[in-house]
Amino acid sequence: MTRPYKFALIGCGFFAQNHLKAWADMPEVELVATCDIDEASALAAARDYGGRAYTDAAELFAKEELDFVDIATTPPTHRMMVELAAEHGVAAICQKPLAWDMADAKAMVKAMADKNLPFMVHENFRFQYPMRKVKEVLDSGAIGRPFFSRISFRTAHDVYSAQPWCMDADRMIIADVSVHQFDLTRFFMGEPERLFTEAIRVNPKIKGEDVATIVLSLPGATGIVDTSYESKSDHSTYPQTFVTIEGTEGTITLGPDYHLQVVSRAGVHEETLVIPERSWTSQPWDCIQDSVVNVQRHWIECLDTGATPETSGADTLRVLDLTLGAYQSLESGEPYRVGSML
Ligand SMILES: NC(=O)c1ccc[n+]([C@@H]2O[C@H](COP(=O)([O-])OP(=O)(O)OC[C@H]3O[C@@H](n4cnc5c(N)ncnc54)[C@H](O)[C@@H]3O)[C@@H](O)[C@H]2O)c1
Repeated sequence: MTRPYKFALIGCGFFAQNHLKAWADMPEVELVATCDIDEASALAAARDYGGRAYTDAAELFAKEELDFVDIATTPPTHRMMVELAAEHGVAAICQKPLAWDMADAKAMVKAMADKNLPFMVHENFRFQYPMRKVKEVLDSGAIGRPFFSRISFRTAHDVYSAQPWCMDADRMIIADVSVHQFDLTRFFMGEPERLFTEAIRVNPKIKGEDVATIVLSLPGATGIVDTSYESKSDHSTYPQTFVTIEGTEGTITLGPDYHLQVVSRAGVHEETLVIPERSWTSQPWDCIQDSVVNVQRHWIECLDTGATPETSGADTLRVLDLTLGAYQSLESGEPYRVGSML
């Protein structure tokens, strides 16, 4: 593989627009094709960002010489796309959640590993600028040994207009958002051993759960992941994630509007983090949009160096185990022993 890496984008829907804009700023890559079963979407992406438009992924793989594919379709097609990539010897970066079930996810990881192909999941929350800052503080030792974390995403923003498929999903907010918070918990605190879920549906118009709280046990620590699409507040903080991490020497709090407070032996440090601006980013999406750039840069760095991506397919099996385990706990009313599905 040599730069510029030739790639195709498969799935040109809502979130893929961020991928396209972020790739367009990166001279390390060249978009040679777009693909969407909705021809108008594939054509519009090709017109605006370049490449040939396809409506059939199998045809795309058969006709194009690719270094990698960026898969931004919804989860039911992820396995098929990754297996096509493996069959054609093409590296892949795939949107979260990797799959709805562990057998599919394991098959995808195996297909790529058998061909020794780079495989990353577009798990972007840990790549958000404020999350990298929190991790920096944590790694500096300023708050000592962390023993409690709460990763909170609560909003009343109407997510259904842009993502109508969320209304029909039997499994909704845990698979859609808590999945990111599980990865953040691992990023900050390490691997959970056990979890317990409480979740309900507040909005009667949807099928799945829209409010969830998951308690996680880690060695010598407790984590809480709480997620809601029904929480009204004085002003919308969508799509921000709040973090509290308590340690033996202090506390880190990432609150509304990216306000970071670090309480440590050194005193109290406060700052409002400023998300790096790009020509195409806009509030309130800027933090998420910036994280897409960071994910894609990380992917290119891994292709350049041969390093394993932080959120590799294999690593993401752990996130999926937590996600599916959260549903198992909800359905059984019992704690889930983490790793049982790995
Ligand atoms: N990381 C994040 O912050 C974030 C945010 C939103 C969505 N997502 C993820 O991105 C993915 C896409 O979500 P979305 O909201 O953009 O969905 P979407 O429905 O807007 O886009 C998906 C696109 O894939 C196309 N598609 C479906 N099947 C296809 C196939 N077989 N071949 C080619 N194209 C096909 C659809 O026509 C559609 O244009 C999901 O996995 C979702 O979880 C991630």
